[in-house]
Amino acid sequence: MTVGFTDDEIRRLRAETPGCADVTHFNNAGSSLPPSAVLDTHLEYLRREARIGGYEAQEEAQARLDGVYAAAAELVGGRGADEVALFENATRAFDMALYAVPLEAGDVILTSTAEYHSMFVTYLHRARRGVRVEVVPPDATGQLDVGALRKRLDDRVRLIAMAHMPTNGGLVQPAEAVGEVAREAGVFFLLDATQTVGQMPLDVRRLGCHALAGTSRKYLRGPRGVGFLWVAREWIERLEPPLMEGHAAEWVEPDRYVIRPDAKRFEVWESNVGARLGFGTAIAYARTVGLERIWARVRALAETLRARLTSVPGVAVHDLGAVRGGIVSFTVRDVDPLRVKAALRAARINVTISPARGTLLDMRARGLSEVVRASVHYYNTHDEIERLVSEVARLAR
Ligand SMILES: Cc1ncc(COP(=O)(O)O)c(C=O)c1O
Repeated sequence: MTVGFTDDEIRRLRAETPGCADVTHFNNAGSSLPPSAVLDTHLEYLRREARIGGYEAQEEAQARLDGVYAAAAELVGGRGADEVALFENATRAFDMALYAVPLEAGDVILTSTAEYHSMFVTYLHRARRGVRVEVVPPDATGQLDVGALRKRLDDRVRLIAMAHMPTNGGLVQPAEAVGEVAREAGVFFLLDATQTVGQMPLDVRRLGCHALAGTSRKYLRGPRGVGFLWVAREWIERLEPPLMEGHAAEWVEPDRYVIRPDAKRFEVWESNVGARLGFGTAIAYARTVGLERIWARVRALAETLRARLTSVPGVAVHDLGAVRGGIVSFTVRDVDPLRVKAALRAARINVTISPARGTLLDMRARGLSEVVRASVHYYNTHDEIERLVSEVARLAR
């Protein structure tokens, strides 16, 4: 038994995950293996579309689709479906909030050293119009220095935007402490929870964020091509979406439109309904397994993997942070990370590479050009960890 799960339960959860029969999957921070329930929801809906027509199938599924919004709100501790918008990925979800926060020349966006490239490029893009982007340095553990953040606040700071967990390592940022600082100062706090949703319990009231973006395919184990944005109810109508269309706003007169009052004002009408329904099933599945238990097991498995990799001569583990989650980053002395990935793939073990450009500030600061990323989920086992470690040990010789 490992932290709250019996061996029988893990066997059952793996049996419910078709991919577990074929691969040892340590790329959960890329895209997890979905459970059969998610696959079934998705495929059944596609079959229904083919049988009765796409729009007709959507009408038939409307109540379930509405339920997906409510489920996403509940998952993050929000108050209701009206606070959620769905997208095709986390990047667009995040961007729609980021571009909607009113900023003027001279205003400042504060962020961390561990941002994902897509988000950082967006900060830089907003900075073209006289807005400044400033990076709060990390403390000795590698997490954002909350004291430095507090000191940096002044009335030009209008937005704090930060990844909860970066793409390239196990670091969990002190989001609750950041949220507290943001709340005290009355600064909008936008949290990129792409890597943490589904991995740990999230509660926007405790996190203190005003908006949060996440994805379906990573730790939630949902289909690809779905992302979501949660926005605090009292902020929705104060945020004007950067893009408009006929679902976000109603065209009421030839020269006039009215933006809708809920978070769907950030959306576009056309979407992959089957994938969104699968996302709903993934949320229900994660909540049934239990997010506290998932988080405990993911952390324990990741710490085991770190310890086992560290025991291999020539292997260096690079994860930062006082709190560390399921992403394990490492290098093998004198072995190109791409070779590590390819050798593991040949052994049916999935890992990926985090290149410097993905988290440029952090990787440059640490002199890292690439790391191998092995990201564990609760359905991984100690046997799988041993297989990974022994394959890596063969390369390290
Ligand atoms: C920390 C972080 N933020 C954002 C993203 C982007 O998510 P998406 O590909 O769904 O847009 C990723 C993807 O890997 C990520 O790791």
